[in-house]
Amino acid sequence: MNVSKFGKKIAVQSGIGQLMDDLGAARCQERDVLMLGGGNPAHIPEVARCLRQSMAALLRDGDRFERAIGSYDPPEGSAEFIQAVAGLLRGRFGWDIGPQNIALTSGSQLAFFILFNLFAGDYEDGTKKKILFPLLPEYIGYCDVGLACDLFTARKPRIEHLDEHTFKYHIDFERLDIAEDIGAICVSRPTNPTGNVLTNSELERLSDLASAKGVPLIVDNAYGMPFPNIVFADAEPLWNENTIVCMSLSKLGLPGARTGIVIARREVIEMVARVNAVMSLAPGGVGPAILTDLVRSGRILELGREVIRPFYERKMREVVQQIHESFEGVDYRLHQPEGAFFVWLWFPNLPITSQQLYERLKQRNVLVVPGHYFFPGLTEPWSHTNECLRVNYAQDSQVVAAGIHIIAEEVKRAYAAGGALRL
Ligand SMILES: Cc1ncc(COP(=O)(O)O)c(C=O)c1O
Repeated sequence: MNVSKFGKKIAVQSGIGQLMDDLGAARCQERDVLMLGGGNPAHIPEVARCLRQSMAALLRDGDRFERAIGSYDPPEGSAEFIQAVAGLLRGRFGWDIGPQNIALTSGSQLAFFILFNLFAGDYEDGTKKKILFPLLPEYIGYCDVGLACDLFTARKPRIEHLDEHTFKYHIDFERLDIAEDIGAICVSRPTNPTGNVLTNSELERLSDLASAKGVPLIVDNAYGMPFPNIVFADAEPLWNENTIVCMSLSKLGLPGARTGIVIARREVIEMVARVNAVMSLAPGGVGPAILTDLVRSGRILELGREVIRPFYERKMREVVQQIHESFEGVDYRLHQPEGAFFVWLWFPNLPITSQQLYERLKQRNVLVVPGHYFFPGLTEPWSHTNECLRVNYAQDSQVVAAGIHIIAEEVKRAYAAGGALRL
């Protein structure tokens, strides 16, 4: 079918589209597929119970349910929920914000579409600006949200080798020039796909650089603090007038509610709300309605601290041990897992590409995400992009263990066929 340039740009198969297709297919045939791809959070029984109780309370409480489903919210989203989030961030973390600093979106994915296209692309003065990712690899979901072509630029990381099999990416500040064509800087913290958590000083330095250049720093906090709080490293959240923090209800267990939260200076929030009105009239109200009391009471923080973070930290330790056992004899490297629920594996000089590895694993009913999708904005060739794999460890332990076992078999086979390993 003949479609517009917009259609050709956005309605073709993309990395994120492939990933969501895989997720959907796996959901239909749950029994056979070891689903270690996608970004689905775990179904944590205690969280599910808590959300169920919230929903039951909503149903019992006068006409709150009818209001949540029966009326459009304003374009910036549910006033009650926004008030509760502002109160929590102000009261517990001292952020100098009020409701005027918050807008909701239908999932935080939409927030990135809005923000990236607000700050990058063609400007009225004839200049063209880009979003800078200062630390690759970075989230696959950013790759295709640009309406203009060539919307991103990025920097390769400095690699710190922590031990024989563990490494950590750092921002290479030596090579981080913020040129005139940068419209905004963006980082995910914790980082999807690596589980990296930018150190406090890296984040502060980035914030200072952005302020000095007068461009916003966008911090994708989908896995971060204060909720869902899937952070195992020592890290502080950061907000200031020049920072745009994006949060989400998805990773704490509500991806179906499609609720993102943008926290920024007032003029940014007004723009996000206006785009909401055009794109979807208003964000959905059901997720906010379920969560409002949990946020207002601060119970959401306990849930993060006492249930969600320990749950994922336990799973992280399990998967790391399985990796060390299963990959013995292979030159594998694991990014130090400091947050989110992914492990990022690097196989130096792998004789096949990560896409080929993905296909071989898919044949064996193991779904992962090949590494090359996580380098938005990289223009120079870099073999590293084809040597990595992202594995989601949120699923049941047996599923993760079985998947890791098969990944190790396929990696060993690939190295052996390339002459790099004797089986
Ligand atoms: C780093 C990151 N940001 C944003 C999103 C988008 O999440 P949602 O649209 O469900 O809020 C995801 C989802 O996987 C993610 O991993």
